[in-house]
Amino acid sequence: MPRTTVTLVSIGLCLLLDGIWSASGDVTSTVPTATTSKMAEVQQVFEQHEVIPDVVDAAPKEFARISYPSGATVEGGNELRPTQVKDQPRVEWTAKPDTYYTLFMVDPDAPNRKEPKFREIGHWLVGNIPGTKVEDGDHMYAFVGSGPPNGSGLHRYVFLVYEQPAGRIDFTQAPRVSNRSRNHRVNYKHREFVKQYGLGELVAGNFYQAQYDDYVPTLHAQLSSGTE
Ligand SMILES: *[C@@H]1O[C@H](CO)[C@@H](O)[C@H](O)[C@H]1NC(C)=O
Ligand SMILES: *[C@@H]1O[C@H](CO)[C@@H](O)[C@H](O)[C@H]1NC(C)=O
Repeated sequence: MPRTTVTLVSIGLCLLLDGIWSASGDVTSTVPTATTSKMAEVQQVFEQHEVIPDVVDAAPKEFARISYPSGATVEGGNELRPTQVKDQPRVEWTAKPDTYYTLFMVDPDAPNRKEPKFREIGHWLVGNIPGTKVEDGDHMYAFVGSGPPNGSGLHRYVFLVYEQPAGRIDFTQAPRVSNRSRNHRVNYKHREFVKQYGLGELVAGNFYQAQYDDYVPTLHAQLSSGTE
């Protein structure tokens, strides 16, 4: 089954389970109800900010939990300043045992949301993450923070975690991009990568928005400082 179908089926299943539990009047049935309302909330927030359909076709199962060394946290479209999100965040989700995941961070709003001719910018790409140990994955695109140009308004920065249904993947042919380079980052198509490498279910996601602040020139200088 294509991923979209699987996601829709699992949402449907959750709603169905919720109906059964509610109908039974079982007051201890808080887990399915909480799961259902959470899934509905993720979908609602992704649709409200048009991350569906601009970046993904269906909502992830849950919000990824994302926090920065600055103390900032990502909360379904909240606005953060580039200064607050300049360092690599901690990303967590509900991982299954013995399972590998791929993590993306993309900006679909380059150079601006109205005319996103550079959609997407690849900010971060790590594959073969065992559980949620991002540091132990294959780092393909080094993390870079937000650099929305002055006057370009709010950009959405979207984190997506996909399950790797067939275990470890050979990513040796995929490019490696340092945090000092724009190579391979502009007009990135994360959906093509998902298809090419047979990634599975979108298990978690989240996003924030940011507009220009005085950290942006520093980031742009950094991205122009290397060749790799
Ligand atoms: C950013 O844009 C505003 C308005 O367009 C302008 O006044 C300001 O000087 C710009 N700032 C920088 C650092 O370019
Ligand atoms: C860029 O990457 C290098 C090497 O991994 C790292 O030491 C440095 O802290 C990174 N810089 C930023 C601003 O993330």
